[in-house]
Amino acid sequence: MKRYNVAVVGATGAVGEELFRILDEMDFPIGNLLPLASARSVGTNIEFAGKEYPVIELTETVFEENDVDIAFFSAGGDISAKYAKYAVEGGAVVIDNTSHFRMDPAIPLVVPEVNPEDIALWRESGIIANPNCSTIQMVQALKPLDDLYGIERVDVSTYQATSGAGKKGMEELVMQMQDFFAFRLDESKIEAFAHQIALNVIPQVDKAMPSGFTKEEEKMVYETQKILHKNIQVAATCVRVPVLRSHSESITVTFGEHIDVDVERCREAIENFENVKVIDDLPNSLYPMPIIATDTDFTYVGRLRKDIYKSNVLHFFNVADQIRVGAATNAVRIGLKWIKLEGEKC
Ligand code: A2P
Repeated sequence: MKRYNVAVVGATGAVGEELFRILDEMDFPIGNLLPLASARSVGTNIEFAGKEYPVIELTETVFEENDVDIAFFSAGGDISAKYAKYAVEGGAVVIDNTSHFRMDPAIPLVVPEVNPEDIALWRESGIIANPNCSTIQMVQALKPLDDLYGIERVDVSTYQATSGAGKKGMEELVMQMQDFFAFRLDESKIEAFAHQIALNVIPQVDKAMPSGFTKEEEKMVYETQKILHKNIQVAATCVRVPVLRSHSESITVTFGEHIDVDVERCREAIENFENVKVIDDLPNSLYPMPIIATDTDFTYVGRLRKDIYKSNVLHFFNVADQIRVGAATNAVRIGLKWIKLEGEKC
């Protein structure tokens, strides 16, 4: 089997660290592995498959010098904006985890279970974009429902974990809880979020936009439409909650006027969809929760129910580990699909 030289940009970050775990678990056909980060991290090592690899400084020439075939970028939009082109010029396909390229019409935005065919568009730019974490887990549940009945509108509220803001987000929640138990919460640092996150919920993820929505909420609208190739109406409210890991979503789907939702058929369609599991037994208090999804590669769906008033409306709840399913696992799955569809031709 052909092997590929793989670079991970942002190797020391929350998503980068998870990428190494998943590349190993999924037996990614790696030739050389190149962990890249800022000059601050040079001198540290990362562990991969029982071996230590030194972290190398990200530079313009590092991709070409090391003959990189596949470059995963998870170091923030500004880094992708500056360095992705050097990876492409150096001969690599870039799988980008940031929002920087997502809405560029020439760049495919891919959830491999939903729109794998879009990967072919990578040839135009050398780049494949990984969607926003909240979008990924939502479209995985929407796709089978759209295939079944045709979706017209989605209303979603998210409950997003602090790790969505990287390691500093997780650390801030933990520090604030420690400060709470030490009776000094009022002195605690507030840096990663606009407000204290411990014992609180914050109805703002990302910056305010002129529409009155946040950037995160707008991402859920436009990314969903791009991935499903459909002008579905989406209204999102994104909320940060004091959870360390795994995002939850409360989703209401409206189908065409003439549809009379059969919940059992919806459940079956979701259950049969790749990498999605249904946990839905309310009388026994069984449903998806962050503690179930964390450290797994599945999106969990439950609380499926038909609206009391409108027969064409379905409600449900879904949860996924947003660092894995919503970022690292999706990126590695894109890489594996790219190898299967395109890489072997290169
Ligand atoms: P470093 O640790 O050297 O700063 P997170 O999302 O968890 O905050 O992680 C961000 C990742 O992006 C880290 O691996 C970080 O590396 C990397 N990064 C940040 N700034 C740069 C930069 N200027 N050049 C290369 N990597 C960077």
